[in-house]
Formats: sequence, C-alpha cells, structure tokens
Amino acid sequence: MLTIVWTVVGFFLVAHLISLYSRKDNNIHQQVSSDQLQVVHHLAHPIVRELIRVEEEVLRMPPPRKRSPRTSKRRSRKPIPLVEEFLDDKSPIRHLFFPGIKTAAFGPTKDMGNETSYYFPGKIWMDTQGNPIQAHGGGILLDVKSNTYYWYGEYKDGPTYHAHKKGPARVDIIGVGCYSSKDLWTWKNEGIVLGAEETNKTHDLHKSNVLERPKVIYNEKTEKYVMWMHIDDANYTKASVGVAISNSPTGPFEYLYSKRPHGFDSRDMTVFKDDDGVAYLIYSSEVNSVLHIGPLTEDYLDVTPVMKRVMVGQHREAPAIFKHQNIYYMVTSWCTGWAPNEALAHAAESIMGPWEKLGNPCIGGNKVFRLTTFFAQSTYVIPLPGVPGAFIFMADRWNPADLRDSRYVWLPLVIGGPADQPLEFNFGFPSWSRVSIYWHSKWRLP
Ligand code: DGJ
Repeated sequence: MLTIVWTVVGFFLVAHLISLYSRKDNNIHQQVSSDQLQVVHHLAHPIVRELIRVEEEVLRMPPPRKRSPRTSKRRSRKPIPLVEEFLDDKSPIRHLFFPGIKTAAFGPTKDMGNETSYYFPGKIWMDTQGNPIQAHGGGILLDVKSNTYYWYGEYKDGPTYHAHKKGPARVDIIGVGCYSSKDLWTWKNEGIVLGAEETNKTHDLHKSNVLERPKVIYNEKTEKYVMWMHIDDANYTKASVGVAISNSPTGPFEYLYSKRPHGFDSRDMTVFKDDDGVAYLIYSSEVNSVLHIGPLTEDYLDVTPVMKRVMVGQHREAPAIFKHQNIYYMVTSWCTGWAPNEALAHAAESIMGPWEKLGNPCIGGNKVFRLTTFFAQSTYVIPLPGVPGAFIFMADRWNPADLRDSRYVWLPLVIGGPADQPLEFNFGFPSWSRVSIYWHSKWRLP
C-alpha cells in the first residue's frame, strides 16, 4: 500500500518538475527569439549590411627557405607558415603585410580622390600634418564636453633594438601620443601628453623601461582625465600598472605612481567605464594565465580591494571590453609576444563574470587571416556613433623588426546572430549574440 502511495506521489512530483522546467525553457526560448528578432531587424539595417560585407584575400606563399633565428624562436603551438613569413623581415611577401609608404599611405593629407574617409587596415595612416600616426596599443576617449574623439597610444617613433640577446624587441619609452578627431578618420596630432623621463633611472617612465597600452577615462566627479597604463622594466618583471592625471584631454598628464594591483603581477591591461560611472581595471595576471577584473575607486585613481579572477588558465591578453544591451563583451588575444595569434570573444551578464567563451570573432580574409586576427592584436573597441550593436575593432599589426612601423587594423565589429558554439553557463541558452569582426581591405563608416 505504502509503495503505491509513494509511487503516485513520486509520479506527480516528477510531472510537476517537468512542467516547471519546460515553462522555464519556453521563457528562455521566448526571450531568445525576441532578442533574435531584434538582432535580425538590426542586421537588416542598410548601414550595417554595408559593414558586414566580407572580403577574401589570396596570399601566395613564396618557396621555402632558411629563416633568421629570431623568426623561428617565436613561441607557438604549431607554426603557421604564413606567420613565419609575416615575422621574417626578409620575406619576399613582406609588402603584403607592411605595404610601403609610397604606395600605401592614407589620410587627410593624401590626395585620396573619392577614397577620402576610407580605412585601409594595414596601410600607413597619416595625421593632418602628413606624418604616420604614432598611437600603438591605444584606446579612444569620447570627450562629451568638446564632442571630440581622442586617441591615446604608445608613441614609438624610435629605433627598435633588443635590450639583451634573448630580450623582446623594444623601443625606448618616448611617451603617450594623443590625437584628436571629430570623425574618427582625420586625426590631428596633439603631441606627447605624458613624456618619458630622460635622466632619473629610478623613475617608472625612464626611457629604458616599458610603457604600454595607455587608456584614458574621464571622471565626472573630480573633472579629471585619468590615464591607466602598463608599466614595466625592459624584462617585463615589474609587471605593474601606472596612473596619471590631467585637467585636459590633451594633457599634460601628471604621472602619479605605479603599483601591482591587488598585490598581483599585471601586464596587458585596459580600463572600462560603465554606464553607471563605475570604472574597472582588467589585467592579465599570474604570469598571463588569468585575467583579473575589479572596480576602481570613485576618483579612478586606484583599485578597490574587490577583484575577480576570470578566464582562469586561458592565457589571454590584449583585452578590449565593450557593452551592448546590458551584456559585456571582451575580445582578447593569446600570449605570443609581438607575433599574431587567434582572437577570442567572451560575453558576460556581469562584468565581474563568469565570462563565457563565444569563439573566434574574425570573419573573412582567409583561414590564416582568421587564425591571426588579420595579423594583428586587439587593443580597443569603439561604439559606432548612431548604430547600436555596431562597433569599430581597433587592433595593432605589430612589426617586431621595426616597431615604429607597426600598423593599425580598424575593422567593423557587429553583435548579432546566434553564438557559434555551445556555451558552458546559462544551460545553453545564451542571452547574448555572436561577435563578428569582418575583414575589409578598404571600408568606410556609414
Ligand atoms: C604582447 C602584448 O600584448 C604587447 O602589448 C607587448 O607587451 C608585447 N607582448 C611584448 O612582447
């Protein structure tokens, strides 16, 4: 008798659970399909359709030959022959990756005919004075007060050398370059807004050290422009962040201090200012094996004690964060020095994680382009003015043989369509969409 009662109770319990689960399931499906409808609607926008055109590139391999020892020293799981070519400064196809100044410069001082305002990823980008832009590993600040974009980056217009036989290629610190623009294409050089220290060898900014990936955010409460950057010694053992401050976007910035955030090593980094005014520091830590993320203090001059370890064991660097419809997205690279590798996109409902892997966002070019982030490395993502869900992906095509001649790869990035691999969290029902970066050898903003 007891067995029958328990069987009946068990049956109703299971039936109830199934009905609850399928209701939840339906809700999620409904939510996903309404999100997808929005996405479809948004992708149908003529402006976005123009941006998501994809180009294929054919790169013919030269016959095999002996390589310089530096080229073959590159850390890689499986060498890609075209990447070996890319890293070889004697390669007969070098002009395909680093086209020369005579044939391949673009910008407001060139006679561009009807190609004015077009981006040419990988070609030499000139400022309004006709000089190549020096703003590597950079980031963009939109200054609402002046309705002007500011591009900050590493000013690397000096000789490339190796501090030691085994050390990485480097350029002495010159400073942080700043350029201003109203249209994200015409850039005026505003000078070096944070300069190197020439004499004091104990100073963080002494020219023999490393200053990389500067990013600037504006603090409404203090009315200060705050710059965060990676500060290191020539061997990358100091592994710290530096902070500088200014009353004006064009500087001069006053260097305040450096530290190891939360007591941890910090190499590639970025800062992200959220809609509610809270800003976050994101940095590669624990010998680049983990990303750390944590809010800054209200004045943006320090980190708070709160910190989360994300993408644990994934060895990601070059973080670029952006937000769309309350979801956070991040594009990162793997860690291979100056050599290009495959990008990954992640998404999260909370900036503090968990971050879900979405896969490689690169589309087009050809397979090698997609496996090398178009021979470049992420640095920043700019929301495209007036087109929700559309962004500009900013990356550096590093030239380790001559770092000052590293190129910029700016491409359209669109959020839309279903993610292309099963997700770990959220029971396989993502509330986010695919991140797509489309290769174009030539494109312009709508
Ligand atoms: C990769 C980083 O992303 C760059 O910013 C730079 O630190 C190089 N490593 C140095 O090898």
